[in-house]
Amino acid sequence: MCGIIGYIGKRKVADVLLTGLKNLEYRGYDSCGISFFSNDEIKSIKSAGKIQGLEEKIKNTEIEMGHLGIAHTRWATHGSASEMNAHPHTVSNITLVHNGIIENAELLKGELLEKGYFFQTETDTEVVAALIDSYYQGDLVSAIFKAENRMKGSYALGIIVKGESDKIYAVRKDSPLVIGYGNEEYFIASDISAILEFTKQYVLLEEGEVAILESSGVKVIDSNYQEVVKKVLLADIDAERQSKNSYEHYMLKEIMEEPILLENLIKMFVDSEKMVISNLPDVSKYEEIHIVACGSALYAGEVGKYLLEEKSRIPVFVSAASEYRYRSPIYSHKTLVILISQSGETADTIAALRMAKDRGIPTLAIVNTESSTIAREVDDVIFIKAGVEVAVATTKAYILQVAILSLLSLKAAIAKGIIRDSEMSFLFDEFISLPEKIQEVLHRNYQNIAKEIYNSSTVFFIGRGIDYTMCLEGSLKLKEVSYIHSEAYQAGELKHGSISLIERGTPVIALITSEELKDKSVSNLIEAKSRGAKCIVVVTEKTEIEEVLKIVVEELSSFTQTLLVVPILQLLAYEVAKLRGCEIDQPRNLAKSVTVE
Ligand code: G6P
Repeated sequence: MCGIIGYIGKRKVADVLLTGLKNLEYRGYDSCGISFFSNDEIKSIKSAGKIQGLEEKIKNTEIEMGHLGIAHTRWATHGSASEMNAHPHTVSNITLVHNGIIENAELLKGELLEKGYFFQTETDTEVVAALIDSYYQGDLVSAIFKAENRMKGSYALGIIVKGESDKIYAVRKDSPLVIGYGNEEYFIASDISAILEFTKQYVLLEEGEVAILESSGVKVIDSNYQEVVKKVLLADIDAERQSKNSYEHYMLKEIMEEPILLENLIKMFVDSEKMVISNLPDVSKYEEIHIVACGSALYAGEVGKYLLEEKSRIPVFVSAASEYRYRSPIYSHKTLVILISQSGETADTIAALRMAKDRGIPTLAIVNTESSTIAREVDDVIFIKAGVEVAVATTKAYILQVAILSLLSLKAAIAKGIIRDSEMSFLFDEFISLPEKIQEVLHRNYQNIAKEIYNSSTVFFIGRGIDYTMCLEGSLKLKEVSYIHSEAYQAGELKHGSISLIERGTPVIALITSEELKDKSVSNLIEAKSRGAKCIVVVTEKTEIEEVLKIVVEELSSFTQTLLVVPILQLLAYEVAKLRGCEIDQPRNLAKSVTVE
């Protein structure tokens, strides 16, 4: 979703801003722009579409650029993805970039129109610029605080003002913003990965604070105009780890990282000799668990439900955060709410977390980004340590989220004393052997299967039990990156309606790894085949099924099978998208970090 970068220092401002914008590309965007001071005047250059277009315009401009500027990648919310609607927006004295959504923008716009402001764009951001300008009488900090009192919604703002060519102002609410500290140079960024080439030192701007960046230093003040002493943090990531290395796409690189990341996760949490899972909370004391998340994290939660119920016999309810936050969930005095989020910044998941906390319910998060809002606000947090995930469609983070949920289920089963020693020892052995097994399936070639799919207009994934939960993620991945319509169905449900969509040649991908349900799933597949479906199966060695395209995987227990099968589905989605010539790392309309509702 939208990205912000701002710079003040001795480097050429356009170079820094373009580097930052390129680093933010992964979040997903549809237009971009920069503003800077040129001989004390604020100038802007914007472009609809990709950063290359903006770069061309900057190259061809004759306007002199100084050493201070702000820039933005926009993911359209209010108004189309046009150059006109691209940020920065200028109203009178104020020029700003904005991440987030102002919910009462229409109301504020009405008031500002009455005051004589007029608007050129359809954006809520232009309203923010006008609102701040309406309060501005030479003291921008005061104008910002007054505007904050009026705005409802989420925002991270980078602001420059006419007549102050040596200052960038920054403020935020419910949308992250960091301040980077370099050597006599300072940055604002929506996340630290945008500026890693320049510095790893940063502070997190908190709500209610305003940062003022000057070439001589940064001052952060609170709403009482008191200076706040901020703790400077060091980012635990390097620019190198963010590069594609020799891979054609980040998505492929990130899938290929799964074995080593899982191995690292095992080192962090598993002592297979002693059969102990350490450094993870014991969830066995809870009588029910609510898992709340969005997108792939939600589907990781579906696997978690299956495992927690099967292994540790704790009832689990899985909800999309966007629904959960507006329901009235029933909590018992022994409910735990687990939030799952790669970014830790997904607006709906944050809202669900805050709702549970307000009700006094214990919360646990499974998160990748350590400095994120969820990681900071939740009662207890488990970091998956996936490193930066750049491709918009998540892959490695999903795998590590599932791995954590598997370990939580096993740990709870052990704590409850409901797992036999022999099974426990089997599962530990199986778990630690996974990285090697995943490595093997990732080095196979799935292009022949991809060729059977890539020209189709619709694909079905079917499965029962835990196989169905894997279908959810396989189907989501395929539609996200290849733009082929795809649905995941419980195999037994297909005949209750959707089988009418199956025509000669429609690919039906059946996951049949669950031993006790395999005969049922095979029957469902044959029903589809009899209606002309092109059948592709992911099966274990033991499942005999003729005349279909097969991907054979080793049979594992339900505890680990997902971690071997879903990497295959991720790679398959990747290969299909590649054959279709899609923009794999930044699929259209999608955003990496969804910071608005
Ligand atoms: C976006 C991403 C998905 C991700 C979802 C939840 O839609 O494109 O890949 O699964 O957000 O994100 P989170 O950061 O909360 O895991």
